Amino acid sequence: MCGIVGYVGQKQSLPIALDALRRMEYRGYDSAGIAVAGSNGIVSAKRAGKLANLEDKIAEIGADTLGGTTGIGHTRWATHGRPTDENAHPHLSYDGKVAIVHNGIIENFAPLRDELVSAGIELASETDSEVAAHLVARAYNEGETAGDFRASALGVLRRLEGAFTLLFIHADHPDQIIAARRSTPLMIGVGEGEMFLGSDVAAFIEHTKQAIELGQDSVVIITKDDYEILNFDGTASEGTPFTIDWDLEAAEKGGFDSFMMKEIYEQPAAVRDTLVGHFSAGRVTLDENNLGEAELAAFDQVFVIACGSAYHSGLAAKYAIEHWVRIPVQIEVASEFRYRDPVLDERTLVLAISQSGETADTLEAVRHAKGQGAKVLAVCNTNGSQIPRESDAVLYTHAGPEIGVASTKAFLAQVAANYIVGLALAQAKGTLSPAEVAEIWAELEAVPEKISETLGTRDQLKQISETLGAVTTMLFLGRGVGYPIALEGALKLKELAYIHAEGFPAGELKHGPIALIEDDLPVVVVVPSPRGLSQLHSKIVSNIQEIRARGAKTLVIAEEGDTAVEPFANWLVRIPATRPLMQPLLATVPLQFLSADIARQCGNDDIDKPRNLAKSVTVE
Ligand code: F6R
Repeated sequence: MCGIVGYVGQKQSLPIALDALRRMEYRGYDSAGIAVAGSNGIVSAKRAGKLANLEDKIAEIGADTLGGTTGIGHTRWATHGRPTDENAHPHLSYDGKVAIVHNGIIENFAPLRDELVSAGIELASETDSEVAAHLVARAYNEGETAGDFRASALGVLRRLEGAFTLLFIHADHPDQIIAARRSTPLMIGVGEGEMFLGSDVAAFIEHTKQAIELGQDSVVIITKDDYEILNFDGTASEGTPFTIDWDLEAAEKGGFDSFMMKEIYEQPAAVRDTLVGHFSAGRVTLDENNLGEAELAAFDQVFVIACGSAYHSGLAAKYAIEHWVRIPVQIEVASEFRYRDPVLDERTLVLAISQSGETADTLEAVRHAKGQGAKVLAVCNTNGSQIPRESDAVLYTHAGPEIGVASTKAFLAQVAANYIVGLALAQAKGTLSPAEVAEIWAELEAVPEKISETLGTRDQLKQISETLGAVTTMLFLGRGVGYPIALEGALKLKELAYIHAEGFPAGELKHGPIALIEDDLPVVVVVPSPRGLSQLHSKIVSNIQEIRARGAKTLVIAEEGDTAVEPFANWLVRIPATRPLMQPLLATVPLQFLSADIARQCGNDDIDKPRNLAKSVTVE
């Protein structure tokens, strides 16, 4: 979950690395640091906290001290060791000649650290990462690989266990960076007279659109004019070149005061782009996908695995797939999945949903599912990331880069993609007729326009959040497919405003949670369409009355034309009418605004980077 950059070229590496870290700060922001290989050997600067702290430090010591055309940088989300200056990367070797940055976990760091300590080397940090710097320095200073940077690095890499992206620079070889990846991401950016390394393409899109994706267990050596890809055993290997189609503009705020707000407004496009190309000649197609119709038809159960918002998108999919395909859909938080022995076989389709494609819990669940013989279809927003690479098939969402840590557009795109999978299954199994599939598709295609209309609730939500007063807790209720919306609304409020919030199925309230209701407690109620299962609508209207009778203030999200809810709403937010199952694609939007507004009122202005969170969670 850390962000890593490397540069070898003709320009000063410091400003290039700092810019890259700024664009990758969403990957982690507990600390940041830079090391440069120049005429003064290795010079580094690092600081706990956001990048601004590192910039202050550099201003203090003078940018000139970090002169050099080869540099590495790191923005950290702490795993081993607290977010302190000492634990920030880069880490230097005992002789000051090797600097490393690391993303991931070195699982066997304890015996390696003991080995170093017995050799009299003092460790300066509490991290697992630091051992890599000392080990390479030792291998370079003594023994068989003495004087050979490449052989020293390769030898150390072969000893490491776990998941890691590592970049090494050496004072005696200031013209190169040696890097490696195992289970965590690393891309090469190919420029003219300059080469880049990055955890993702945001590290270098400003400078080049030509990139190379690296396979598992790859080592890469870059100089300003060339790159060489090796396996861990030193034999030659190759990467996959591609042209980046995200421009820099797409990764910046575009006039909004936060990435998250920009991304909320990108939701119509995110859903539209996700749907594009998946319906032709009257049929839903999974063209990026290698599961054929016959394979789809043979599945007799679906398992959904995901975390957080992605999990909520999967919960919405459960309602849709069971309704359309008439096969059981089980859903599991990915971190629990493999620890409870789920019953899977080759007739099980596992839907692994992940924006980043790097979430360790989901990745491990994918590996477990594959080990049990199930077929895994990834729904993912990030090309070339680990989860799609390890899955049997992939359906990409096309939400573009999501920088705000709290998921918005990726969530809506996931719901849309999950529905594509549901329709493809129904089509293959014949549980929906072609006319029914076409009708549902037409409604899906109408959704982006309706999301645009829903964006019109912006000012109303601002006013509502202002009149709510000081909120210390908030409940979210839904029924049917409104339940995942309630969970997502509560998660957004927790993440952004640090306020206690819980989502419940409205019918469950009377089984306990109703005891929480007291005077003036704000309760959000997502009302199902009156055109859906009729008893569901009337039941939630009763639920609203029950909580109002106990003093709660209700913020009701209901579709246009639903007059039955009017007498029971302290605040009523209207969303366009749609098929009941499409409701998550609309009703979530006002809840995103609500959380952002309440967050600001609570003094959390930096809604893009809520405390304690990271965008990609690559540890279990
Ligand atoms: C919530 C949020 C997280 C992610 C979760 C999964 O706003 O962003 O709950 O949804 O960490 O991340 P991905 O989708 O990258 O696997």
